[in-house]
Amino acid sequence: MNLKLRRSPILTKNMIETVKIKRIIDECDGVKTFVFERNDKSVPKPGQFVMVWVPGVDEIPMSISSYEKNGEWAITIKNIGDCTNSVHDLKVGDFIGVRGPLGNFFKIPQETNKNIILIGGGIGMVPLRFLASELVKLGCKFKIIEGAKVGNEILFVNEFLEYHKEELEFHFCTDDGSYGEKGFATDLFKHLIENKQVNDLKNSIVFTCGPEIMMQKLLHICLEHKIELQASLERIMRCGCGLCGLCVIDPLGLLVCHDGPVFTSAVLKKMGDFGKYKRDFSGKKISI
Ligand SMILES: Cc1cc2nc3c(=O)[nH]c(=O)nc-3n(C[C@H](O)[C@H](O)[C@H](O)COP(=O)(O)OP(=O)(O)OC[C@H]3O[C@@H](n4cnc5c(N)ncnc54)[C@H](O)[C@@H]3O)c2cc1C
Ligand code: FES
Repeated sequence: MNLKLRRSPILTKNMIETVKIKRIIDECDGVKTFVFERNDKSVPKPGQFVMVWVPGVDEIPMSISSYEKNGEWAITIKNIGDCTNSVHDLKVGDFIGVRGPLGNFFKIPQETNKNIILIGGGIGMVPLRFLASELVKLGCKFKIIEGAKVGNEILFVNEFLEYHKEELEFHFCTDDGSYGEKGFATDLFKHLIENKQVNDLKNSIVFTCGPEIMMQKLLHICLEHKIELQASLERIMRCGCGLCGLCVIDPLGLLVCHDGPVFTSAVLKKMGDFGKYKRDFSGKKISI
């Protein structure tokens, strides 16, 4: 019998590739970007993520922070626990395992006259950084509102400021006022709407990633003003590919790793757990 082995796209994207760390960039306190090259020729889209495997430690989801045509990928990691600390300890030339790109992505509008606004909080700026670089390549104008707890946690400032001024309008805020305006990104967004600095609301689209409570507030603002919204959710994941069910959304049964991580307001408003609770590694509900 002539058996031909065929590579299933589902299996291929779930194979772990070992990659060598090429560069490490210190972004700010406790946050580093790791750049590596892949043999995998997949072209990731902003909003997608990879599962990062550190042998002997764990495998964790990480948004893709940048992708260049020369095959360079980057992830940007905040060290908060066992696996993220282990990656932070790695040096240039060390290896990690990478699986993906996984999940869906931000849908960039085809209409050239859309008001595009990127609103990120903390490490949630990572997928928005990739989105911003794609928008710049497409020649789109857009606003960024970036919030963080304190000034030394504001990410990618120098990189954003390098973009041509006509493409980008930049607003920073911090909880303690140590950088930019004092307050939350949601308050700043409301302020811009009230001051008519965001015009033609029905022709506007917001892309967001950050703490779920911030994104829940944004959902309310966007629904009130009939602004389109796409939000990237972070839930605790184990398999990252729709098998274990840990990242399920109540009561819809959608999986953040497979049906997301990016969801539109039409779906977000039907989520019973959005901004309220997620599941821990045992599947138990925990408050957000
Ligand atoms: C789609 C997606 C994209 C992500 N992108 C990034 C990114 O670009 N950069 C980045 O730094 N982090 C990102 N995260 C969060 C990252 O996966 C967690 O910080 C990481 O899994 C923690 O692993 P750890 O072993 O270091 O921490 P642990 O020791 O496992 O946990 C430390 C703390 O973090 C919480 N935690 C664990 N896993 C997650 C999780 N998946 N999401 C939220 N909290 C978690 C735990 O409840 C605990 O409170 C992303 C998560 C998802 C789901
Ligand atoms: S992480 Fe396993 S189904 Fe989403």
